[in-house]
Amino acid sequence: MKYESQRIAYWFFAVCMLLFGLQLVYGFIMAFAHAGYDVLHDIIPFHTARATHTNLLVMWNLCGFMGAAYYIVPEEAERELYWPKLAAVQLIAFVVVGVVALVGFHFSWWEGRKFLEIPRPLDYLVVIDVLLFIVNIGLTIFKGNRVTTTASVLYFGLLMAALLYLPGMIPTDNQTVDSYWRWWVVHLWVEGVWELIMGGILAFLLIKLTGVDREVIEKWLYIIVGLTFLSGILGTGHHYYYIGAPRYWLLVGGLFSALEPLAFLGMAIYGITMAKRGGRKHENRTALLWTIGCCVMSFVGAGFLGFAHTLPQVNLYTHGTLVTATHGHMAFWGAYAMLILAIITYAMPKLTGRKLYDKPSATFAFWTSNIGMISMTLAFGVAGVTQVVLERRMGMEFLAVQEEIEMHFIGLILAAALFTLGIIAFIYNFIRYGWPRGEVRTPQAAEPEPEGVGVPAGADA
Ligand code: HEM
Ligand code: HEM
Ligand SMILES: [Fe+2]
Repeated sequence: MKYESQRIAYWFFAVCMLLFGLQLVYGFIMAFAHAGYDVLHDIIPFHTARATHTNLLVMWNLCGFMGAAYYIVPEEAERELYWPKLAAVQLIAFVVVGVVALVGFHFSWWEGRKFLEIPRPLDYLVVIDVLLFIVNIGLTIFKGNRVTTTASVLYFGLLMAALLYLPGMIPTDNQTVDSYWRWWVVHLWVEGVWELIMGGILAFLLIKLTGVDREVIEKWLYIIVGLTFLSGILGTGHHYYYIGAPRYWLLVGGLFSALEPLAFLGMAIYGITMAKRGGRKHENRTALLWTIGCCVMSFVGAGFLGFAHTLPQVNLYTHGTLVTATHGHMAFWGAYAMLILAIITYAMPKLTGRKLYDKPSATFAFWTSNIGMISMTLAFGVAGVTQVVLERRMGMEFLAVQEEIEMHFIGLILAAALFTLGIIAFIYNFIRYGWPRGEVRTPQAAEPEPEGVGVPAGADA
């Protein structure tokens, strides 16, 4: 660790681990309910579990992005965080607002809009909190000793993510208009500005882990940002097909969203190429594994499975079914969950001064969670396709179909148990790292940024 204030990232990552663990508990509640064992129905009905599961996911992802930024930006800007104490206050406030929202869901205090369930008064607090973060990071970059492309792309992504929260707060009592704005948040986040955050974090990791020149890695970043904007903005139209919006969205949404996988393909090729080109053997191989894994699995989940239902002719049948959940799980896992687990795996040895990355439990966590998630995707996929055939093709009644597919959720539970085993290993490793007591090392003594390819093994601190 080069700067004292990077230490705050540890606490953001610790909150991530906690919320992630809790998210899985709610996943199991829903999986059991789907399998016919809705035993908690009176205390935690399905809609409450669902809102809690997805909001916990969004919360820990945002927390991970903020932690990543607090770790990366001082190193990129070559200075301490502008306002370290504010970062701590901002984390506490974020957790308090989050917990109030989650508890509120259990008492039916919610907005009922998928992914944006947080009640309006709390939305304002979220906005203030995130703006404090944006200002803190912005001032660190602005007052820093250098401005890198990596930090700029990361910052722009975070800033736009904060601003794009606002369209979801536009008041309307029209269902179509409400849906229209909701997608500005949900779609333009995960298929727009979050991809920039992803590009920035990946670039940082690849620079540190592969030893390939910064210029080469950052050139790729421009290509990925370009592809994201070219396809992702108008690609929003793939959510406007059947919500009562004008017909031209069928063409615009279909055409542009079909191009979206290119950005994810770019990231997969980027990660693999850089890892192959880099002559540097960084000690922390597990961090590289998570980084390359993220590049590849995001293509599978977002690119491939996204494309599978993005054309209007297909979406007509699959819309709002378990096919969406199939894609949602693998895309969120591959792109954003794995990304955060990658930066945590990279940063923890530096934050705590302990090197636990070559322990068998670290490798076990990677493979078990990934094999578990692939199996979960298959279970959801089979249930989803069966649902589409029975309900949308053959016209069977919704609840009758749900009963038909109960069996697939036993498969899901087994796959999710495997996945959870991997995540428990990850969290166990996180706890074993201990408190953030890592030494601050001068930029010279700490990891020197490689000048080119082929920095000798063990050059990293
Ligand atoms: C990392 C990037 C991505 C993530 C995290 C993600 C996640 C999700 C989630 C959670 C949903 C459900 C949203 C809701 O109903 O409120 C969804 C829907 C959808 N996604 Fe993605 N997605 C990603 C990228 C993509 C890409 C690249 C494509 C197209 C090539 C795509 C195509 C779709 C479509 C068509 C739907 C609507 C499904 C429906 O009509 O029910 N997604 N995505
Ligand atoms: C123990 C593991 C997990 C289980 C058992 C589980 C189960 C479920 C179930 C049953 C649903 C509801 C599907 C429906 O609407 O009928 C769901 C929704 C969802 N879960 Fe999970 N989940 C797990 C882990 C995860 C993880 C790790 C992620 C993200 C990385 C995730 C992301 C999502 C998303 C985005 C949705 C909403 C999908 C949509 O909009 O259609 N889940 N989950
Ligand atoms: Fe989308």
